[in-house]
Amino acid sequence: MLARSLTAALQGIHGSLVTVEADVGLGLPGLTIVGRATGAVAEARERVRSAMAHCGHELRPRKQVVNLAPADVRKDSPGIDLAVAVALLASHEIVPAAALQDLVLWGELALDGRVRPAAGALVVADTAWRHGAKRLAVAPEAADEAALISGLEVVAVAELSQLVAALRGDRVLPRHVRTAALTEAGARGPDLADVRGLPVARLALEVMIAGGHNLLLHGPPGVGKTMLARRAGALLPALDEAAALEVTKVHGVARGVAARELVRRPPVRMPHHTVSVAGLLGGGTPIRPGEVSLAHRGLLFLDELLEFPRACLEGLREPLEDGEVTIVRASGVVRLPARFQLMAAMNPCPCGYLGHPERACIDPPTAVARYRRRLSGPLVDRIDLVVPVQPVGAELFDEPTAPEASAEVAARIEAARARQRERLVGSGWHANAQIAAEAGAIETLCPLRPAARALLREVVRTRRLSPRAQHRLRRVAQTLADLRAVTGQGRGEIDELELAQAAALRCLPEG
Ligand SMILES: Nc1ncnc2c1ncn2[C@@H]1O[C@H](COP(=O)(O)OP(=O)(O)OP(=O)(O)O)[C@@H](O)[C@H]1O
Ligand SMILES: [Mg+2]
Ligand SMILES: [Zn+2]
Repeated sequence: MLARSLTAALQGIHGSLVTVEADVGLGLPGLTIVGRATGAVAEARERVRSAMAHCGHELRPRKQVVNLAPADVRKDSPGIDLAVAVALLASHEIVPAAALQDLVLWGELALDGRVRPAAGALVVADTAWRHGAKRLAVAPEAADEAALISGLEVVAVAELSQLVAALRGDRVLPRHVRTAALTEAGARGPDLADVRGLPVARLALEVMIAGGHNLLLHGPPGVGKTMLARRAGALLPALDEAAALEVTKVHGVARGVAARELVRRPPVRMPHHTVSVAGLLGGGTPIRPGEVSLAHRGLLFLDELLEFPRACLEGLREPLEDGEVTIVRASGVVRLPARFQLMAAMNPCPCGYLGHPERACIDPPTAVARYRRRLSGPLVDRIDLVVPVQPVGAELFDEPTAPEASAEVAARIEAARARQRERLVGSGWHANAQIAAEAGAIETLCPLRPAARALLREVVRTRRLSPRAQHRLRRVAQTLADLRAVTGQGRGEIDELELAQAAALRCLPEG
């Protein structure tokens, strides 16, 4: 007889329901799976057959056809195994077809019938819930992740035989109760109080996080660039509910092992420059999110920026512009979210000492030029803040007063972000860095006081700034104005001081 079960297909962090139809018919004995089954799914046949045999259910020596519908959706996760096995069991009338309504199945089968967790349980749970399914069966390891969708009844299934018994009414599989503890405080990492001097770089870091801008630090070795970057993540405000769900989905799809908790802190990713293009941007089969997606709604730190392969640097343009990456395959296109803040560090030249106050650069000018060319125009164009870092004097280390701590900076950032949200309400943007160059937006959202307007005119003339560069300057100046306003100085509008500071916060390496 014809039987049906439900499972899902993943497209990045979105999912759609898939109906598995199984039929036993006349014809040569064998099992065929049709319906755009690729990669891991093509191998489902063997796993399902073996798992069924292990729980004592051999397929009848007849022609068995399994169809995955709709056929135009690509299915490449082994998570559909469980649904294929159950549909076949229903077509053999081993489990009652009626028990499969409203039940979504998501798990990979081991040859001995155990159920393994498949990546993306949270996405599948969300999909099931949106489509009105009431129950979801997953491997025990994935149950906490799936149960983050409240309202959906999640059952944990360790073995196919357990599920068969439950569907036949021989045993009860209880609703899964989340076991993960609700601890979210976590260690916040190293503190800004350890960083001596570097007033400009510290300001740049604060502006970056407060306004959602991207930041590039350049300078000689050992001056504290990496040190500052490691302290940036703790300054990011916590994720709201919707963002937390998105981030948890991305990480669930990527890891394959369930996230046990909603990810509340913005992620910080620091890929090494030996990362592959697929590792950075996403790829593989099934498609796995890359570092840019793992940094979604958080921070991507690229240390030694110019050591990254050219293809990696060029590939950053799309996510920096659109907040997502597109992965193109013969089998279709998948989009993954990738809205991150970029923080990068680099040396000004191959030897590192160009522009150093005491040491001389040993590189021939051609080598410096070649090195610098890797910092392409389109990439720097998307980085609002470009700041030099110079060595701090030894005397600063003996100062008795400790530098300002991360908590104080984070409090200002939080308040400045709140100001922005208020001002930008209704615009679709949340932070100054997002304000697009559309007609008028910058005039109304980043207004200039008269003295600032005069100074802007002068800066545009002397630095020969493009309209895009002017726009960038005003966005940064607005963040500076917001930061000043939350400490009770200024009115939150851009004055001469903010404009001058903003201009100083974009200083490309010399040469
Ligand atoms: N401003 C500073 N305040 C306190 N310690 C510092 C400072 N600058 C450097 N240091 C010390 O020097 C070490 C090296 O700094 P860091 O690794 O951040 O250098 P870098 O600028 O990233 O250099 P490179 O270009 O070689 O990567 C730090 O771990 C820290 O101990
Ligand atoms: Mg470094
Ligand atoms: Zn050099």
